Amino acid sequence: MTSYLLENASQVITPIPGVMRGTALKDLKIRTDVSILIENGYISAIGTRSELHSLLTDEVFRIDLAGKSVLPGFVDSHTHLVFGGSRETEFAERVAGASYEEIAARGGGIQSTVKATRDIDKKELLEKSLFNLQKAVRHGTTSIEIKSGYGLNEETELKMLEVISELKDAQPLDVKSTFLGAHAVPGDLSKSEYISHIRQMMSKAGKLADFCDVFCEKGYYTADESRDILLEAEKFGMKSRLHVNQFNDIGGIRTAIEIGAASVDHLEVFPGDDLEDLAKTDICATMLPGVSLFLNIDYPEGRQIIDAGCIPVLATDFNPGSSMTLNMPLILSLACTQMGFSMEEAIAAATQNAAFSLGLEKTGCLEPGWKADLIVLDSANYQNLIYFVGEPIIEKVFKAGAMIWDRSRSWDGINT
Ligand code: NIG
Ligand code: FE
Repeated sequence: MTSYLLENASQVITPIPGVMRGTALKDLKIRTDVSILIENGYISAIGTRSELHSLLTDEVFRIDLAGKSVLPGFVDSHTHLVFGGSRETEFAERVAGASYEEIAARGGGIQSTVKATRDIDKKELLEKSLFNLQKAVRHGTTSIEIKSGYGLNEETELKMLEVISELKDAQPLDVKSTFLGAHAVPGDLSKSEYISHIRQMMSKAGKLADFCDVFCEKGYYTADESRDILLEAEKFGMKSRLHVNQFNDIGGIRTAIEIGAASVDHLEVFPGDDLEDLAKTDICATMLPGVSLFLNIDYPEGRQIIDAGCIPVLATDFNPGSSMTLNMPLILSLACTQMGFSMEEAIAAATQNAAFSLGLEKTGCLEPGWKADLIVLDSANYQNLIYFVGEPIIEKVFKAGAMIWDRSRSWDGINT
């Protein structure tokens, strides 16, 4: 595979290796005017051009990065990227005043995507998902988590998990998959009937999925039901994650602490007394500000969550109903303008901490021996990633040492 020397980058910014929380979150390392040598998918050296000179062979492909900055690729650790159809009509209804919960109560919402996902054939679903993954790459995402949860029956839940498995082989990003059978209750079954059905799916789902997730929320799954489902899933090798505190606090964080989940996600409703206990664990606090923007609900109290000592993670929650965006830089901008994150904290939360939440090894830092997953900004100052709100500023994306996106090679950068 091609070796690269990325020469003379104006800034290279990286979290310090090791999951980051508390005041350490601010201590990102910034190197100026350095070069990065990439070999066999990993960073093999970082230093001045003269320091790296002796390591160079004729085969190394050189790219001049003067006036550019470099960051680790983003790890988007919470998405629902595989789905049929789309929900722009519901979006228009919400813009006109209807709430997410009202739309769900009349059979729209998750249920309408369930219908479209049951109806779409597998090949088309794979193509649609690949198209979405390509969009994610243009926003600097180099690893991603994808959930099922729009099937709500064995046939379609497994179809989704199989599509996610095929995506793992069909494109370069690292993909982690999550079984979210407990995303809602299908219209044709009672909740207890459907929970038994979820349990029956576990042996097959466990062969395909890395994690199991539950929507722990009023009208969906209680904290006790969530715990039982997740403990069962663990028997089939799936680790736990939970959707908690999106609209109501119904005890999901307690359950996550009790069972030792990898992450609690959403947290738009402030966790209150549970926060202190959460901070004593290695459970990530994953915040999804795209949802607050899209649904016009409160943003998570990012500052308080960080100051309490939790492990903050930022992700898109890309899905057709509550966050139709794969734009990680926008998520970071929202975390800074709406949730009290500093720019450095936001970068750490969206890279190394997110990789930790998914169990991705050697991912999210720019140091020798770490995976060469990185993005090049069309700016000498990394702060412009967050300052240019929603603007395309990413010029190149490398995944495991391969250049998978180069804006300068597409028609004047606009057909992104
Ligand atoms: O994470 N909260 C539950 N699930 C998604 C929304 C899914 C949908 O509306 O289709 C979320 O926000
Ligand atoms: Fe979600």
